[in-house]
Amino acid sequence: MSDPIATPFNEVVHPITPSEHPPVLLEATPEGAALVTLNRPEKRNAFDAGMIAALHDVFTTLAAQETVRVVFLRGAGGTFSAGADLAWMREAADWPEDENFDDALELARMLKALHALPQLTVALVEGAAFGGGAGLVAACDIAVALQGTKFAFSEVRLGLTPATISPYVVRAIGARNARAMFAAGRVFDAHDALRLGLIQEIVTEAEGLERVRATLAREMLAAAPGAVADAKQLVDDVDGRRIDDHLMRDTARRIAKRRVGAEGQEGVRAFLDKRKPSWQG
Ligand code: ACO
Repeated sequence: MSDPIATPFNEVVHPITPSEHPPVLLEATPEGAALVTLNRPEKRNAFDAGMIAALHDVFTTLAAQETVRVVFLRGAGGTFSAGADLAWMREAADWPEDENFDDALELARMLKALHALPQLTVALVEGAAFGGGAGLVAACDIAVALQGTKFAFSEVRLGLTPATISPYVVRAIGARNARAMFAAGRVFDAHDALRLGLIQEIVTEAEGLERVRATLAREMLAAAPGAVADAKQLVDDVDGRRIDDHLMRDTARRIAKRRVGAEGQEGVRAFLDKRKPSWQG
């Protein structure tokens, strides 16, 4: 296994734990599309401490892979994720509060690692995305769901709150929608998720998710990797800020840096030369 990401999909190239049933699978294509699969189908991909640590490892690995252009996230066995493992949560209820804090912080850090990935991230959602599973969806840049998928921020029905996922959900669907969905905890369908902005597209059959994957993998070859990372960061940095002189100078500095940078120069020159830029191969 010389290069852990230069192999086609459907071949497991980076088992995170040396176990027969790794909780997370990482596969990749030579073109730079990575596929992360939550792999606890018998528990509907509910995540416990082991899966959270494995996901964090995978996202850390991917963040350093310059050849990866897009990261897809999905669940094995037809369900995206049933959220936090409630058996694990039941156990944790007997621990002191500070241990619960440390435990919850690991989940918060894993979500941040996903959100901070420099590549485009895409959730391919089917079956159900409940609680923390819906949080994973919100932490991705794009989410596409199979018609019939059920969603819920069901935490209040368990006497909990969607705390660690809330920064991503509020950004994705807005404060008003988040209050409504968090407080009611009700199950909603893919059409509601689309209306709320939790997902951007619905596909009507499972092959549709594969089509989206192939299309985005191809499209992302046209995007300069450094510009993609900077564009994602740009959104986080301007979001909610007052449009004052400070912000205008900040944005002007960013584009000036890009204009004189290698990618900016190559991209503009390639357009004028009517050829593909170097990153498109
Ligand atoms: N934690 C632990 N085990 C779970 C979870 C979970 N969140 N969700 C499902 N499972 C287990 C079930 O206990 C069952 O195990 P068993 O076979 O040993 O009895 C198995 O997964 C299959 O579950 P079913 O309910 O039979 O699967 P189904 O496909 O009918 O429904 C669904 C899937 C809708 C996701 C349902 O399991 C469900 O509602 N789960 C709870 C989801 C939830 O409320 N999550 C929020 C957790 S709180 C948080 O994330 C912070």
